[in-house]
Amino acid sequence: MGVFGAGGRMGATVCAAVNADPELELVAAVDPAYAGKELDPAGLVASSAPEAMAEAGVQVAVDFTLASAAAANARWCAGNGVHAVIGTTGFSEAVLAEMKSLFEAGQANCVLAPNFAIGAVLLMRFAELAAPWFETVEIVELHHDAKLDAPSGTAMLTAARIASARGRAPGGPARAQSGVLPARGVEGAPGVNVHSVRLRGLVAHHEVLFGTAGQVLTLRHDSLDRASFMPGVLLAIKQVPARRGFTVGLDPLLGI
Ligand SMILES: NC(=O)c1ccc[n+]([C@@H]2O[C@H](COP(=O)([O-])OP(=O)(O)OC[C@H]3O[C@@H](n4cnc5c(N)ncnc54)[C@H](O)[C@@H]3O)[C@@H](O)[C@H]2O)c1
Repeated sequence: MGVFGAGGRMGATVCAAVNADPELELVAAVDPAYAGKELDPAGLVASSAPEAMAEAGVQVAVDFTLASAAAANARWCAGNGVHAVIGTTGFSEAVLAEMKSLFEAGQANCVLAPNFAIGAVLLMRFAELAAPWFETVEIVELHHDAKLDAPSGTAMLTAARIASARGRAPGGPARAQSGVLPARGVEGAPGVNVHSVRLRGLVAHHEVLFGTAGQVLTLRHDSLDRASFMPGVLLAIKQVPARRGFTVGLDPLLGI
């Protein structure tokens, strides 16, 4: 096992979770900002480049970095036969399409999930079930103020899945609708507006509000701690060697 972004908030939490799992062994940590420093309680020293993964014989690499770095790391994994579990968010559609073709063509597999919290994965599924029964829907995503991308990958995927469940094309990147007040958010998918809140103290929170005549259905998931993502990350690490190609989202891993 290796971790890209091992010195970051998520990467450090993944290192600790892997160390605590008797079925897994952490052998490489890559993070240019921490190169040469001991990161891991077991004394693993961080490296600056992906080649450290190959030297350590890594079979599965986890990536929690930033979109541009993660795209380069994914290319390296696909080219070097290392399975990838990607949690980084903020990829363009073009980069996602490139990753899909690279992993489908090569020997290595990839599981990419914009949200590894199993409760959030269930929220997306429940939203899909509710979507055909409510004419109006709004998504509010709330995160800590250091989150770089907005709207969140989870909000965008939820919007796309709601649009698909309503029989509309999922749509592209979030955009402002002409003639619509900015306070009404951006369109994450046709007919699904997304609102982003960035506030110190928050971790990751998603709310989907469905409305129809005389009733409102609210679905909400709160990640209160980064530990919430770890069962999903560990599941993906263990399943990725057997999941051929490029898998997006944890749903198939959970069988939902
Ligand atoms: N999928 C999920 O469930 C989930 C949950 C939380 C966060 N995230 C996403 O994970 C990403 C990281 O979040 P964070 O809060 O840990 O960020 P962070 O800024 O704390 O950590 C990112 C780390 O990546 C390192 N890095 C940058 N370039 C690198 C490279 N080329 N190779 C290796 N490491 C590199 C940085 O030095 C930094 O230490 C973000 O995109 C965030 O949105 C996803």
